Amino acid sequence: MVANKSILKDVDRVGVEKLTLTNFRCYETAKIETSLRPVVLCGPNGAGKTNILEALSYLMPGKGMRSAKLSDVTLLKKSDSGIVPASRLWSVFAKVNRGDEELNVGTGVERISNIEGHYSERRIVKINGEQAKSQGELGNILTTVWLTPAMDRLFKGGSAPRRSFLDRLVYAFDSEHAKRTASYEHSLKEWTKLLKEGSKDGRWLGALEQNMGEQGIAVAAARREHVARLDKFLNPDEKNVFPRAKIKLDGLVETWLDNMPALEAEEKLKQQFFNARRLVAMNNNVSPDGVHKSDLQVFHQEKGLPAETCSTGEQKALLIAIVLAQATSQALNKGFAPILLLDEVAAHLDEKRRDALFDRVCNLNAQAWITGTDVDMFKKLQERADFFHVEDAKLKRIV
Ligand SMILES: Nc1ncnc2c1ncn2[C@@H]1O[C@H](COP(=O)(O)OP(=O)(O)OP(=O)(O)O)[C@@H](O)[C@H]1O
Ligand SMILES: [Mg+2]
Repeated sequence: MVANKSILKDVDRVGVEKLTLTNFRCYETAKIETSLRPVVLCGPNGAGKTNILEALSYLMPGKGMRSAKLSDVTLLKKSDSGIVPASRLWSVFAKVNRGDEELNVGTGVERISNIEGHYSERRIVKINGEQAKSQGELGNILTTVWLTPAMDRLFKGGSAPRRSFLDRLVYAFDSEHAKRTASYEHSLKEWTKLLKEGSKDGRWLGALEQNMGEQGIAVAAARREHVARLDKFLNPDEKNVFPRAKIKLDGLVETWLDNMPALEAEEKLKQQFFNARRLVAMNNNVSPDGVHKSDLQVFHQEKGLPAETCSTGEQKALLIAIVLAQATSQALNKGFAPILLLDEVAAHLDEKRRDALFDRVCNLNAQAWITGTDVDMFKKLQERADFFHVEDAKLKRIV
């Protein structure tokens, strides 16, 4: 299926109309107003472009685009005693426009003191002025998908970043997925620790194995379903500019689900952990197979090559193809596209691919926030986007 204007005509545009940052990274305060079209942020290195995208990534549940500690995000300032955090905590507020609805969404950090005079920080979320019970409520209002320069290395090295990338994509469709993944990983950590400490608490170990069995199969099933969902939208664009990506899940548990019902696979996974108890207790380097080892494999379909052997630009184009498939599939399934955070994406693309990307973004009815150092790269977006020059943590609209 090709993502064109006709199949997306009933999709609502979800966009940030106003964004206000306070004490966020290099910004003491910053305000941006948009016309809900794509937003281009241009300026020199270190200007504050990526920080804006990171702020937007906090409008979705999770740890944000840089997986930063909450305390690292607060504005740091020079003082007589060195570099210190700004006295006030950081916040990100957005007026979100969704079809004919307007919602005020905010997130930031709250400091909680305890009796001994120590304090801890936690992230809070407000929706239309009311504190939300959990970050999860943000996912019902908007979702974001990002591509960053750090992801240029996604296809090289270990599977963990690829797994996280896929899990984030699944999460936009299934808000329970993050909880299940976290619960599985928490149980696995606890189980491994108990065994290494020589624990003989069979009941507790059994309870953890039960949880890993249940959560693990649910995680595997959700990943399988999402890979199949994305596959339908990974066809090339009409002009055949982006490569056709082929994606595949490489995981033992995921393959079990090809051949057996979920309940049987759950029992098998539980049993596998039970059988591995002795080995894990005796050997520091042993970890049983499970959904924590699954991988997302990506191929360049026409060339038949795995993504890691493709050129830098081809790898970027494959990632873009996946993100566009996600956006199209989400737009059709949920009725609104995600906000796309595209950090320095234009840099590795030739002119033809760059322009095709801009066309696809505009056709998707998605608000993309795109950064770059050179404004000339975005010429083809001139009449179709809001442009801002960013320098020294100041934003100026370019007309
Ligand atoms: N907590 C913080 N407090 C103050 N400044 C910060 C904080 N965290 C990061 N910065 C600074 O913010 C500045 C802007 O960073 P950002 O990553 O947004 O730059 P950029 O415009 O994307 O640059 P590039 O083109 O190099 O990617 C950097 O100089 C960085 O050191
Ligand atoms: Mg940057």
